[in-house]
This record gives sequence, structure tokens and C-alpha cells, in this order.
Amino acid sequence: MSDGERTWGGRFEASMSDLTRDYTAGADRDLYEHDIAGSVAHARMLGEQGIIPAADADAIVAGLARVRERFRAGEVVWRPELEDIHTHVEALLREEIGEAAGRLHTARSRNDQVALLNRMVVREQCDRAAEAAEALIAALCDLALAHAADPMPGYTHLQRAQPVTLGHHLLAYGEMLLRDRDRFRQCRARANAAPLGSGALAGSPYPLDREAVARELGFAGITRNSLDAVADRDFAVEFLACCAIAQAHLSRLAEEIVLWASAEFAFARLPDAFATGSSMMPQKKNADVAELARGRAGRVYGELLNLLVNLKGQPLAYNRDLQEDKAAIRNAAAVTAPTLRIFAAMLPALEFDLPRMREAAAGGFALATDVADYLVRAGMPFREAHAVVGGLVREAEARGRELHELPFAVYEAASALFRPDVLELDVDAALAARDIPGGTAPARVREAALALRRDL
Ligand code: ARG
Repeated sequence: MSDGERTWGGRFEASMSDLTRDYTAGADRDLYEHDIAGSVAHARMLGEQGIIPAADADAIVAGLARVRERFRAGEVVWRPELEDIHTHVEALLREEIGEAAGRLHTARSRNDQVALLNRMVVREQCDRAAEAAEALIAALCDLALAHAADPMPGYTHLQRAQPVTLGHHLLAYGEMLLRDRDRFRQCRARANAAPLGSGALAGSPYPLDREAVARELGFAGITRNSLDAVADRDFAVEFLACCAIAQAHLSRLAEEIVLWASAEFAFARLPDAFATGSSMMPQKKNADVAELARGRAGRVYGELLNLLVNLKGQPLAYNRDLQEDKAAIRNAAAVTAPTLRIFAAMLPALEFDLPRMREAAAGGFALATDVADYLVRAGMPFREAHAVVGGLVREAEARGRELHELPFAVYEAASALFRPDVLELDVDAALAARDIPGGTAPARVREAALALRRDL
């Protein structure tokens, strides 16, 4: 094609270098559904407002339907010289209906068009991610109910700290993911304003019915400032931030799965369906799904930073830098929702070694705080109790024993407030004692799982 045939060719004398053509190409072919939906709504409105002849509007709408069929059937040959999806759709429309196709771009710029497409994509991707988050939360709630009373060690600094229940531990992720779900919803709500009618940057001299277009495309309203509408990519940054935060949560959970599946922890066995083997070491069963979820966090964070840096310093309004947004959105979306989904399938398939977790929960002096609390209940200031129990731990460690394996005489010598029942302190008692809202007592965990389910 000569530059005279390009949508903007009239102003150009010499033709574009192929280098430029390839360098500036936007990878947006996958957006034909969105582009056509936006174009149909725009054309209908142009016809109804008498801005273009009604017959042309009808021809455009019918022609766009045929163009859509050609895309769906995989019949469209991509022509790099046409630049992007917007110009492709218009050129294909021209093949279908001839000259009337030239009226479609009345009162529209690719700048407000691409802003529209991106908002539509972000809306969809937010829905997908929110749904996938819900599936994972639901799986976590089921597991939490099943394991509301099963102890495991709780950690700080990856040192055994205090017993918690497996249900409580899993619900921690449930809470994170609920916030993620809500963030995706809020992001969607902010993205849900239609920019069409903003033109290239200054609005439009035609009597457009922007609200009608917005309604037809399922938007809650229209944008209020034309410059902002074509230049803003907050909604995309927000989407990437939502993905990044969710991926951070998933990556932490992934790391736990990797740890749990190790011989050192041996808290869980990986189901074959979600593990991979080693090409060399026959005994290996690797948590590759979790590792990739952890590793791909880098890609998602990268896209967030990518777009933030991209926007920084861009003067109003549209600049071609903005074309980079689509790949960022697509790349992040390609990680987060699929990770949420595979985790929702994988977690219920983990085989927890509950006896081993229970044993670990009691080891490593995990009940030391409870012994200190015992003294506090008998009247001792906590700081003093802490020191007394610290001495007991030192003694137990020297003897190669756990706290409950020390003879009562050792306790008695450490404080006169101890009674023999101190030796009855066990993991279940420690769990049951944490019976306040947000605590790990089995009854509270059940309550919390049901509350989380209700929030879905
Ligand atoms: N392909 C462009 C993008 O994705 C569409 C807008 C182009 N506008 C322009 N004035 N070159 O951002």
C-alpha cells in the first residue's frame, strides 16, 4: 500500500520505511471483538443522531458483523502496513460495504478508540481475576472447615513460634485473596467509564450522544475530561497493581507449598496431577506449579513498573508510548487469573500429613508462651514470666528435652506459682485458649471460614 492509502496518508509525500512500520506495530489483533463492538455502538449513535445518513449507519453495522465473522473464522490476513486493529477493521469494512465505511471514523479518533478498548479489556480481566480469586477462596474455606482443629506450627522468622490450626493458616490466604477480589472489583468500577467522544484530545464538534454509546457498551457512565480520557491509563496501572498484589499473595502461598512438600517439612505430599518429575533423579517430585507461580510474580511486578515508568513524564494528551499498555495488561492477566485457578484446583488435592504437623506443632518449645501465660494467670507480671520460662527452655534444651518432658521439680524450682497441671498444657489446649475473634481456636476458625464464605 502507498502512504496515500493509509488512514492518515493524505499529508505524507514519501513512504514509510519498513523499519518504522515494524517498529511501531501494535500487537492488538486479539482486540477485534472489542474494536468492532465499540464501532457498532459508535456507528449506531452517529446514525441516530443524524450525523451520518441512517442508511450508511445500517450498512456499517451490518458490514461490521461480517468483518467480525471473518475474524472469528480466522480468515483475516493481517497487513502490517495497516498499523493496528482499528485501521484493519475499517479497511475490512471497506471491503464489505465500500465507500460508506469512510463515515465510521466520523467524530472519533484512534486515541479515544484505544482508550475505550483498553477499558473494556480491563473490565473483563478484572471479572476473570475476581472470579478466579473467588474459586480459590471457596477452596480455602472448604479446607479450613475440614482442618479447623488440625494443629500445625505457626512460624515467625521461619522458626516455630506457636501452634496454629491448618485451617487458620489457610484462611490467612483466604483473607488476602478476598481483598484481592475486592480490589479487582473496585478497579473495574473505576475503569467503567466510556471515553468515546473525546476525539483525539479535545472532544468533538458533533452532537454525539455519548451516554447512549456508553450504555450500549455496558459502561456505568462517561469520562468527564477529553484530555484525561485519551491520556489516562490509571485504570491499567491499577489493574496491574491488583495483579501484582494478588501475585505476591500467591507467591507466598507458593513458597509455603514448596516448603511443605520438602522432605525437611514433609507436611504435605504433592498430588501427581500437580507435580513434575526430574529427568535425571527418579525419586524427585517437584512443586513446579508453585515455583512458577512464585517466579512469575516477577513478570507481573515488571509490567506494573513498566507502565508506571512509561507514563511518567508523558505530556498530555495521547503519545505513542501508550501503545505499550496493551502488552502490559495482557502479560499480567496471563499470569494472575491462571495462577488463581490452578491453585484452586491444586490446594484441595494436597495430601496433608496431619500427624506430622501435629507433632511439629508441639515441638520446638512452641508452648513456651503458653507456659508464661500460665504464670501470668497465677498473678506474675508477663515480663517476669517470660524470663522464668526462658530459663526453663534453656534447661530443657540442655537436657535435649521438650518443655513438657521436664520433671515437675524443675518447674517448681523455677517458680512457686507452678502446679503439676502445668504439664497438662498441650497443643490442643493452646489452640482452644486463643478463643477471641481472629484467633486460632478451632471454633473461631470455623466461624471465620463461614464468614469468609458469606463475603463471597
Ligand atoms: N495503536 C495505537 C495504540 O495502541 C492506537 C492509537 C494510535 N493513535 C495515534 N495517534 N497514533 O495506542
